[in-house]
Amino acid sequence: MLKKENILIVDDNYDMLELLQRNLKAQNFHTYKASSVLEAIDILKVGSIDLLITDLQMPGLNGIELIKFANEHFPDIPKLVITGFPSVDTAVNAVKSGALDYLVKPFTSEELKKAIQNSFNGKNISKKKITQIKSNLENKVNNYAGIVGNSEQFENLVEVIERVKNNKATVLIQGESGTGKELIARAIHFKGSFSSNAFVTVNCGAIPENLMESELFGYEKGAFTGANESKIGLFQAADGGTIFLDEIGTAPLSVQTRLLRVLQEKEVTKIGSQKAQKIDVRIISATNNDLYEMTKKGTFREDLYYRLNVVSIETKPLRERKNDIIPLISTFLKKYGAEYGKENCTITDKAVEILTRHSWPGNVRELENIIQRLIIMSDSEIDVSDIPDFLKYQHPTGNDNLKSLKDIEKDHILKVLHAVGDNKTKAAEILQIDRKTLRQKLL
Ligand SMILES: Nc1ncnc2c1ncn2[C@@H]1O[C@H](COP(=O)(O)OP(=O)(O)OP(=O)(O)O)[C@@H](O)[C@H]1O
Ligand SMILES: [Mg+2]
Repeated sequence: MLKKENILIVDDNYDMLELLQRNLKAQNFHTYKASSVLEAIDILKVGSIDLLITDLQMPGLNGIELIKFANEHFPDIPKLVITGFPSVDTAVNAVKSGALDYLVKPFTSEELKKAIQNSFNGKNISKKKITQIKSNLENKVNNYAGIVGNSEQFENLVEVIERVKNNKATVLIQGESGTGKELIARAIHFKGSFSSNAFVTVNCGAIPENLMESELFGYEKGAFTGANESKIGLFQAADGGTIFLDEIGTAPLSVQTRLLRVLQEKEVTKIGSQKAQKIDVRIISATNNDLYEMTKKGTFREDLYYRLNVVSIETKPLRERKNDIIPLISTFLKKYGAEYGKENCTITDKAVEILTRHSWPGNVRELENIIQRLIIMSDSEIDVSDIPDFLKYQHPTGNDNLKSLKDIEKDHILKVLHAVGDNKTKAAEILQIDRKTLRQKLL
């Protein structure tokens, strides 16, 4: 029976000590109290303690240090950690330093009882439990077909995708570069009911104008010089599935006219053929141009714009949905941690704070690249010192015309730093100032 065992409780918060003491007395334990690590060490040395329960964050020496000390000098005493503001790092550190179990405040008497029993039974915290602690502590990561987020925009996006995925409505995705347009197009297709059919991507900006028509619609043998045999186009290849017209804003007017016909008639004709072929394909297009603006300038056909824009999805820049940043960081840490064999690589709260403050002009793509780079360069923990300077200093925002000279100067320095990959020697050289001055000007 677990009767009259001596339990040492360590917490710098007297209320918590009282509460724990009452709770433990009610469970028939004998308690010792300490409000600091040094006090606790004194008690450990003289008393015959059967279990150590300690808080982690305390002024002076902290709970981890106490556990390490106790492990060295009193390896047989089981250790149980309780703490208020847990992070993945502290939880894992506590377990690594020898704590048998880990309780997060607030906890119920029942949970405390269970943890004490486990500790007395010498039940080490299991791997499964560590994973469970980790996932509980990590910020909520919603993942929908690889799209990660935790913002209102993310919720709305998932709702729209759910609505369109099973029908063939034409979708236009507009937004800044790196905001996940292609990812969304794929999610619509692969979550949908005809995902077993093809998803064909056409990069309208990468195909030369003279080849675009033959690529999209195919050609018959002998249709033009070099057409030695007939070939199907990307539209025919996507029949039954989805065709993704990426960077649609760069499609030349001649191709726009042909696309409009496909949309109106739902059929395609190979070059050199008289026979139209019915196709059943969902069209998703994406662009980082302002298509509406282009229609006003006459560079994009207005009728095509309205045909493409049946369902409109606008991807917000990352700086306007900051709640997505932490789940994204945690996802990329996992992804690249696994890729580079650094699964245990963590990031400090301060470093996360800096990354959250940045304006991310390159959006999610930029964030992903930075995390990848940080993982490659770090040993186990990414801290503030690892983060490139151009990310550390906030871009001054606001009306350019009403900026102070100092802000404009700072802004320019950051741009140069960004352009030279944070190489301060190079930046100083371009700016014709020395490195010390460069540092000072950034403060
Ligand atoms: N919400 C998200 N969750 C996870 N990864 C994301 C998210 N948004 C973007 N990414 C990742 O960021 C990168 C850029 O995304 P994507 O290629 O879809 O952007 P894009 O809007 O098509 O950019 P561009 O206009 O430059 O083509 C990809 O590696 C993608 O996986
Ligand atoms: Mg893209």
